[in-house]
Amino acid sequence: MNKLEITKWLKETDASKLAELYEKANKIRFENVGDDVHLRGLIEISNCCCRTCGYCGISAINSKLTRYRMKREEIIECARKAVTLSYGTVVLQAGEDPGLDGKWIADIIREIKDKTPLAVTLSLGERSNEEFQLWKDAGADRYLLRFETSDETLFRKIHPPAPGQGYTNRIEILKTLKKIGYEAGSGVMIGIPGQTYETLANDILTFKELDLDMIGVGPYLPHPETPLGEEMSAGLKGENQVPNIEEMVYKVIALTRIAAPESNIPSTTALATINKATGRELGLNRGANIVMPNLTPVEYRKYYEIYPSKACIYETAEECHGCLSGRIASINRTVGKGTGSRNR
Ligand code: 5AD
Ligand code: FES
Repeated sequence: MNKLEITKWLKETDASKLAELYEKANKIRFENVGDDVHLRGLIEISNCCCRTCGYCGISAINSKLTRYRMKREEIIECARKAVTLSYGTVVLQAGEDPGLDGKWIADIIREIKDKTPLAVTLSLGERSNEEFQLWKDAGADRYLLRFETSDETLFRKIHPPAPGQGYTNRIEILKTLKKIGYEAGSGVMIGIPGQTYETLANDILTFKELDLDMIGVGPYLPHPETPLGEEMSAGLKGENQVPNIEEMVYKVIALTRIAAPESNIPSTTALATINKATGRELGLNRGANIVMPNLTPVEYRKYYEIYPSKACIYETAEECHGCLSGRIASINRTVGKGTGSRNR
């Protein structure tokens, strides 16, 4: 599909036409990645962050938030739990936290890789190329870094530089990660103020161009303690502005599957947050093939509040596991075995 066709789909409102789009995406999903849904256990290892992203609730701007950093033993314990629950992957995610020492992270990766069969995915923000290399050498398999929007002006607006540094280009960082040998994952939020249909169509084309292994998309959910959240309180404006609604998320999941048939696409927690009853299942039926059950110890979960009313804040790792396994079975899909890396 070209940009014009994608844009047209993003603006489509006819329910029967959309049903056809979803059916097509679901068929392409089945033909390319099958019925398996892979589980990636998410460990939110630190909510400390030095950045001031306009959308994000754990940004350094939010002085009301209690900050935490998990201990090495706690992280290893979560990884052990992932093995017990038969997950193939753990995702170590954090704010951009300079307090997470590069060598300390490398040691944790090495220990997980030595003691478990897990794939290790990192989602630790923009770090130095030396650290990316160090972590790869320690055994990390994948790196997630959403580029958030392909519109550079909008990116600069919502994503100010780190203290004492210049603007960065996440698309270039993703290319570096791939060169180092990571499976690279990225994605965008849907409905950030200033995101037009054309921008979002370009985002989808960029997924394809970058040949990403994983592509995560979810609705933008305004957080009251952020600049963008305040801007949103007046509502989204302009006829070309993309709304942050549920239907738009399904359209983007479906169009992403069509554009990148073999990629791993999660049905995200942000989607589950706007439709707690059936969001995850609908995502999986419209192109997605991954879910990310939360493994973070319950005492920390409520502090990893990137947006309000996040799903799974009060559930334990076992509860999320039971919940997701049940949801997968309810739509006649199977839980994937092994690490669920993209076939190349
Ligand atoms: N609403 C939705 N998604 C958000 N993220 C961060 N803040 C928000 C928000 N307010 C997403 C970003 C980030 C990922 C970890 O979570 O895309 O890359
Ligand atoms: Fe956590 Fe459903 S996945 S409660």
